[in-house]
Amino acid sequence: MKTKEAIDHYTIFSEKWTDYLTTLTDQVEKSRYLPSYHLYPKTGLMNDPNGLSYFNGNYHVFYQWFPFDSFHGLKHWGHAVSKDLVQFEDQSPALIPTESYEKNGAYSGNAFEHEGKLYLFYTANYKTPQGKKAKQALAIMDEHGEIKKYPGNPIIEGTPEQFSEELRDPFVFQRDDAFYMLLGGGRFTQKEQTGFGDRGELLLYQSENLFDWHYQGTIELPIDTGYMLECPSLVTIDGKDILFLSPMGLEKETARFQNRFASIYLVGELDLKERIFRMDSFDELDAGFDFYAPQSFYGQDQQPLMLGWFGCGMQEYPNDHEGWKHGLTTPQTIKLRENQLCRFPVKDLLNAFQKIQIVKNSSIPLAEKNCRLTLEITEDTQIRLGTKEDFWIFDIAFERGELRLDRSNLRQPVDTAYGVARETKMTRITSFQLDIFVDNSFVEIYVNHGERVFSFRAFIDAEQFTVTFDKPHQTQLAYFEAQT
Ligand code: FRU
Repeated sequence: MKTKEAIDHYTIFSEKWTDYLTTLTDQVEKSRYLPSYHLYPKTGLMNDPNGLSYFNGNYHVFYQWFPFDSFHGLKHWGHAVSKDLVQFEDQSPALIPTESYEKNGAYSGNAFEHEGKLYLFYTANYKTPQGKKAKQALAIMDEHGEIKKYPGNPIIEGTPEQFSEELRDPFVFQRDDAFYMLLGGGRFTQKEQTGFGDRGELLLYQSENLFDWHYQGTIELPIDTGYMLECPSLVTIDGKDILFLSPMGLEKETARFQNRFASIYLVGELDLKERIFRMDSFDELDAGFDFYAPQSFYGQDQQPLMLGWFGCGMQEYPNDHEGWKHGLTTPQTIKLRENQLCRFPVKDLLNAFQKIQIVKNSSIPLAEKNCRLTLEITEDTQIRLGTKEDFWIFDIAFERGELRLDRSNLRQPVDTAYGVARETKMTRITSFQLDIFVDNSFVEIYVNHGERVFSFRAFIDAEQFTVTFDKPHQTQLAYFEAQT
């Protein structure tokens, strides 16, 4: 039997690890911090959502996955399918990096349906002693779910001049009669030419057949793009283009970009001919601590949806020794409200919250750790969740429209290198509606149906959580009930 000592950064999935992975699955199942309605890795580390799609009667969620331990080792594509984005069924790994062109991992990318097949585009991570060599690759899933890597891989090699070889995360889409691919990268504008580059860039490629790709140039973006862009994705809502980007290296602002890396959205018009994004608005996507690399896509009825990685960078968590790490956000519907993006858990997930009750009290014990709390705020309010000695705080300064999340009272500190509090400011209307989705150590707080969202982890060691208010507060409470 293979043991933990035999695992290294480049361990690759194969049958010889079956026993090891079974034992690790059993160990992970005993964790006190597992969620019920967030996707998490049955073993190992999960990061970006990839290849999100509705194909052949199922939702497909692929994801970055190192199956063997809770660190960022060799990236595979994990795979889960679902009818409703609530109940997921694990599949065997979709992409195992067995080919020489992807010897350092199958990195992120998206899925594009074409002529009854699902085209999976991804970055083939390839390192040499002199540094990275940029390669993009393709695998095709047929109607029976069989996935084959394209024999002509890599489909794109290298980068245009002045670009770092850290070019990645293909996002393929169709407009009019042509296929387009967005890639995230970094440009060297100074003499020093190592690593990521010093200006984040969005590169545009075009193709007539999805196999041969031609570089068109970069897309002009009217924002600070940091030193490197990751994980582009695009949807159109009410005639407007929404571009999702995950820039590395944005300057911190008082109430924005506090995490190691940020994810942003731009609303406007992506003009592919002029290669410019005409922007109406832009903002950070999430105000919490643990969110990055979201991907948008269209659902069963063409509704715009997204999922994000419930994590950010190389954070350490108190339960890293348990052999699993991170997860994904809830699947969310995205809408535009006056150029502001709003996101909220999908309907089927909302319907899975049952046993609805209204409670008016200053202290509400939660019967289970997987619940939804809904409340209306019309004055300064402080909410604590956890136990008496071990809790996080959400503060609303009503008149000033300031919302503050504070993790400093958690007994098990989380990623304190990037601070213990997050703040955001909103224009106050007559009230704030809060929806707090607690899923054990995964928490999402939605303000006004997703005008602002705080996604964060909190590791609280208790049989039961209690919600406490500074004064009695009417709250609607519902518990998640998995369908069997
Ligand atoms: C974002 C990212 C992507 C990359 C992947 C590797 O979190 O760095 O740019 O493809 O993760 O796992």
